[in-house]
Amino acid sequence: MVFITRRERFNAAHKLYNPDWSAEKNLEVFGKCSNPNWHGHNYELFVTVKGEPDKVTGFVINLKSLSKIVQEKVIDKLDHRNINMDVDFMKDKMPSTEVLAIEIWHQIADDIRTAGAFLHSIKLSETENNFVEYFGN
Ligand code: NI
Repeated sequence: MVFITRRERFNAAHKLYNPDWSAEKNLEVFGKCSNPNWHGHNYELFVTVKGEPDKVTGFVINLKSLSKIVQEKVIDKLDHRNINMDVDFMKDKMPSTEVLAIEIWHQIADDIRTAGAFLHSIKLSETENNFVEYFGN
């Protein structure tokens, strides 16, 4: 079994808040990410795929195919967007790094299987010091 990782970057805005809470409570729980007038992050995304190298091509997955899937299903929908307002697969979801990683998984897992490999993990960083990883359950 070989693991192969594709890195992508995107910039997006968001706001973490619970409308049932006061501004003070939102600030206490979500910190700067509760800023009412939005703010942005430079996200870094690592998509790791696994499988056996093909006997003819030597590839676990054609990286062109993987790049196309991630670009069309994830990056095009998120880059330079407002995650709370513009992104169909994040509608009515809390735009935390954790939830975003889970939803990115659901966006691409089937397409990667169709391309002949298996999605192993989504690693997503919102700042250079914090990242989350999701392995599908
Ligand atoms: Ni934030």
